[in-house]
Amino acid sequence: MAQIYVTRRIPEKGLQMLKDAGHELTISEKDGVLTKDELLTALKAKPYDAVLCLLTDTINAETFEAVPTAKIFANYAVGFNNIDVEAAKAHSVVITNTPGALTDTVAEHTIALMLAITSRIAEGDRVVRAGKFDGWGPMMLLGTDLRGKTLGLLGAGRIGGRVAEIAGRGLGMEVVYNDIKQNAEFEQATGARFLSSTEDVLKVADVVSIHVPLLKETTHLINADRLALMKKTAYLVNTSRGPVIDEVALVAALKGGVIRGAAIDVFENEPALAPGLAALENVVVTPHIASATDRARDEMAVLAAENLIAVLGGQPPKNPVA
Ligand code: GLV
Ligand code: GLV
Repeated sequence: MAQIYVTRRIPEKGLQMLKDAGHELTISEKDGVLTKDELLTALKAKPYDAVLCLLTDTINAETFEAVPTAKIFANYAVGFNNIDVEAAKAHSVVITNTPGALTDTVAEHTIALMLAITSRIAEGDRVVRAGKFDGWGPMMLLGTDLRGKTLGLLGAGRIGGRVAEIAGRGLGMEVVYNDIKQNAEFEQATGARFLSSTEDVLKVADVVSIHVPLLKETTHLINADRLALMKKTAYLVNTSRGPVIDEVALVAALKGGVIRGAAIDVFENEPALAPGLAALENVVVTPHIASATDRARDEMAVLAAENLIAVLGGQPPKNPVA
């Protein structure tokens, strides 16, 4: 029997698997993100064998030193930019994530955001709720059609691939992409066309959607200079990680008509928003819920549990990232 610390309650399905495997769970009772000190104190309370952590937990050398008995930190997320992977390696701690479980879910939310901004759904909703709908008008809230338009993907992973499929086959969009390397399999599966730079994608796309992991190299991938390359009629969609966009530059671009609109689920300094962002009409914002469906969150819990059970049983993990 191993001792596992869980930094915040996740769906019961995963927790039950861990209990059924004979492990003892200590689940943080705080209904919120643990502060750095709260996390360190909690981890020092027992010689835990494993930790189940969230994308909102910062995990680094100090964390590993607080619980030197832990063999594995299973991150309840596909993104793992919250974890210092090099420090994990140095401390011989296994890190796992939950890929696959949320691919369709995040892709569908991406498409929902894209349609919401181009069809002015949220803006129209605000008009109706405010009692400002005074009858049909030929020029009211005109949006943008997507058939025949170009979707530019930055990042050709699983989620980008699913977005390409829906947008290409379902909406009749042309899909172009850039990634660190050209991916023939991705092209075959989605019909997307490779462009050799981020800039090339930004210049031709009517909608740009971001699906890269957050790395040093992708921080502020979208900045003022790159926004200026986009068409004035183009939209930017982001369901990856907030710091990929310079959010202050985005607000300026949206205010100044540099691009037409943006729809984003993630923010640079979550949960804070850049000044002025929430006041803009040409923005759709959702609170980091792109993977929030019952099925996806259950499956993420199952994957995290499977990884913990494997490593605690001396087996290789299913989804190692370090
Ligand atoms: C969600 O943002 C995730 O990385 O799983
Ligand atoms: C995540 O699932 C990705 O690789 O896009």
